[in-house]
Amino acid sequence: MADTVVVSQDAGVMEIRLNRPEKKNALTRAMYEAVSTALERAGADAAIRATLLTGTGDTFTSGNDVKDFQDRAADRGPRGGSRFLPAISSFQKPLIAAVNGAAIGVGTTMLLHCDLVLAARSARFVMPFTSLGLVPEAASTLLVPRLLGHQRASALLLLGEPLDAETAFAWGLVNHVVEDAALMEVARETARRLAALPPQAVRLTKRLIKHGAPDVAARIEEELALFTERLASPEAQEAFAAFMEKRKPDFSRFS
Ligand code: COA
Repeated sequence: MADTVVVSQDAGVMEIRLNRPEKKNALTRAMYEAVSTALERAGADAAIRATLLTGTGDTFTSGNDVKDFQDRAADRGPRGGSRFLPAISSFQKPLIAAVNGAAIGVGTTMLLHCDLVLAARSARFVMPFTSLGLVPEAASTLLVPRLLGHQRASALLLLGEPLDAETAFAWGLVNHVVEDAALMEVARETARRLAALPPQAVRLTKRLIKHGAPDVAARIEEELALFTERLASPEAQEAFAAFMEKRKPDFSRFS
């Protein structure tokens, strides 16, 4: 079976590729662990100057694996995101995302912790947490309103409205929109440019840009605690079961 996360390295750039295209790159616990380990390795290896995150096939990622959500709720075990989110939000080297197709749930919220986001024209961003009976994570309840304002944040986080690539660009969530076929070439070229810069100056500048980090770490924790409670909630259970059974959820019995 192919690795569900493929990590490669070239010219000072680590590329981390989500590689589970048959499930639209839905993130399992093992995948979160693999990405977290790769980020830690990139952080510690002086030869790596920039990191590039992308997905295989027509989807960046469909977000957390919904089956995994159900299993976590049943055994109340730690979620994959509990290591990944602190790892990505505290990563000190430049992180670039190349978004191909849908970026759902954590597929969008992880972008708030990337330094540059390049979107293919096919990119689509959705944070459907409420419709899954959940609350948002990755400090998105802090960073989305900060980036986009309260009303747009509410459309995205309360209603779960999708954003296409052009709107995401107009709203400042992504740096560039490029044709799908050109995405990886542009992303790798951008990563190589970052990797060629003086590494200390780059790390210090990133640290200064992210000066608000302490409140981000606290919000990630606060959201994770609520999120973990919500996983076992009847609302979330109904949403997960409906997804797995390919039917519409029915929330009418909940008060
Ligand atoms: N978790 C588990 N399985 C998932 C998944 C997820 N997040 N996203 C997709 N899959 C699976 C589907 O169940 C399907 O499996 P099957 O072939 O065994 O039936 C397969 O991946 C292909 O997905 P499908 O829905 O048929 O593809 P699509 O092109 O019609 O739609 C998406 C793609 C990503 C728009 C759609 O799959 C989707 O909305 N996924 C769920 C997103 C979600 O709610 N994520 C959680 C966010 S917090």
